[in-house]
Amino acid sequence: MLSSREEYQMMYDSEEKLWWYKILHEKILKEITAKFGQNKYIKILDAGCGTGGLMNFLIQQGYKDIEGFDFSEDAVSFCKERKLKVQQIDLTNFDCEFIDASFDVIINDDVLYQFEDKIIVKAIKNLEKKLKPNGILISNNNAFNVFYGTHDIAVGGLQRFTKSDFEKYLSQTGLKLQSHSYWSLFLSPLILSVRLLQQFQLKFNLINRTEIKSDVSVPGNFVNTTLYRIVKLEEKIFRNGGFGSSLFLVMTKK
Ligand SMILES: C[S@@+](CC[C@H](N)C(=O)[O-])C[C@H]1O[C@@H](n2cnc3c(N)ncnc32)[C@H](O)[C@@H]1O
Repeated sequence: MLSSREEYQMMYDSEEKLWWYKILHEKILKEITAKFGQNKYIKILDAGCGTGGLMNFLIQQGYKDIEGFDFSEDAVSFCKERKLKVQQIDLTNFDCEFIDASFDVIINDDVLYQFEDKIIVKAIKNLEKKLKPNGILISNNNAFNVFYGTHDIAVGGLQRFTKSDFEKYLSQTGLKLQSHSYWSLFLSPLILSVRLLQQFQLKFNLINRTEIKSDVSVPGNFVNTTLYRIVKLEEKIFRNGGFGSSLFLVMTKK
């Protein structure tokens, strides 16, 4: 769970504008249309939906059948402000939920980092049970320990991942990796410099831990647009940049 209601408020305020969310939402849309074309009636579940920005985006793209859940009361209440179909459910313990439902697309973005490996496998198995035989599970996750910083502390992060972590988790489930990509390669030097400085400050207690906040806030228009354009350029050049602070995965049934 995020450290405070203020963090959910920051997410709610920024997820329609911040370059990072815009890129992520467009990546997800691309995977959905690659699989299901222009069919807007597919069933979509956002598992760990936060304050609902992705669901809102997909509704704006014309998708008709979207619901989500999150374990945080604050996240659910923000989703309700957006008039989204949402429930308060625990991803790690939801056998009794969605009994008669199965989904064409399940999205699970930046939730698993809070759990230990055993719980991650359990959560993935829970999602697998709710996925249609031809469905896809899309999951973005924080990547590479070298990018550890104050953001990880603010969002309650236990770990960062690489592709091989997911190969290990998936080998214990009925899912397999369809594709993976790390992003953003081009922004890595910038992000890495900031995070290495934060690691130094944390090590020598130069940061007041009670005042730590996540990176989820919108910079000025120029910076926000420039960062967005840099990642878009990268996407035109590489399908998988091979390195970056996020790992984007698409999984299917074996
Ligand atoms: C970093 S946020 C990501 C939210 C959203 N997926 C996004 O991309 O903006 C992590 C989310 O996981 C939710 N979460 C934490 N533990 C959970 C659990 N056991 N079941 C469901 N959601 C959980 C948190 O409340 C939070 O909204």
